[in-house]
Amino acid sequence: MRARRALLYTPGDDLRKIRKAAKLDVDCICLDMEDGVAPNHKTEARLVIVEALNSLDFGRSERLVRINSIGSGLEIDDLMVLVNTRPDAIVIPKVEYGEQIRWVSSVITGYEDRNNWPRNSTPLLVGVETALGVINLPQIAAADPRLEAIIFGAEDFAGDIGATRTKEGWEIFYARSAVVTHAAAFGLQAIDIVHTNYQDIEGLRREALEGAHMAYAGKQIIHPAQIAPVQEAFTPSDEAIAHARRVKEAFEKHQEAGVGAFGLDGKMVDAPIVKAAERVLVLAKAAGKING
Ligand code: COA
Ligand code: MG
Repeated sequence: MRARRALLYTPGDDLRKIRKAAKLDVDCICLDMEDGVAPNHKTEARLVIVEALNSLDFGRSERLVRINSIGSGLEIDDLMVLVNTRPDAIVIPKVEYGEQIRWVSSVITGYEDRNNWPRNSTPLLVGVETALGVINLPQIAAADPRLEAIIFGAEDFAGDIGATRTKEGWEIFYARSAVVTHAAAFGLQAIDIVHTNYQDIEGLRREALEGAHMAYAGKQIIHPAQIAPVQEAFTPSDEAIAHARRVKEAFEKHQEAGVGAFGLDGKMVDAPIVKAAERVLVLAKAAGKING
């Protein structure tokens, strides 16, 4: 699956910001129809996104579109206008049931069949950001073959259950863990919370590393200054890559000699440690840091 270390939201009605985003060399740009756009700007935002996707070069960035939530009354117009522009993937916010994902998937399939586009060529990423979404994670994660990632929305989740956001984040910790665990169980990526204080780069770095350690694949961001620190936090360092290679080599040698667990630099290495090292190498490859 492609690297989605940083997913930058850009309001769909703001062509100036979209033009800027296209030049930032960020993994994913999410042109937003939902909460980044005021209710009386939704129609304009649809047209701006169509123009942007038809005319701008987004470089290597993945072009995502976030539609309004299912049941908002806006979702069908969003899909009717935006599926035709062939974004690289579609984001559905505030998902609570697997059925909602299958409904969007079937709408896209209709367009694919009528236009002779390959089936399942538009993947889906879904936002889980309500209590109902969290407790229905098993049906959401298993809902549809188009599904590639689950995005955890902490601000909406806290608002939904009536929690107060704190710096430590214990009020969202269960949900944050649940999302990453269900994603892993179904072979999906998980995308972590927004650090809303976009001037606090040190706090951002800390939070991004925390997400990376929890096995999130990337993080949602809202400002250009957040791109570099976040993409870095989700890319294995040179030292981590060198260590992972040593662990793998040593493991292979010991396996040949019939030894399962052994010591390296005073630390025990066995199968799960090797699995972690292999994951480091997969991430480094996805980030373009190593070949093969
Ligand atoms: N995408 C693209 N460009 C962005 C951007 C974004 N999300 N956020 C800021 N920029 C641009 C600004 O337009 C500005 O460009 P300029 O120098 O060419 O004028 C530059 O980056 C610096 O921005 P700054 O002045 O520091 O911030 P701002 O006051 O313009 O914007 C926010 C602050 C929070 C309004 C803005 O970052 C934003 O809209 N973020 C996305 C919010 C969103 O989508 N929320 C919903 C999803 S959670
Ligand atoms: Mg949200």
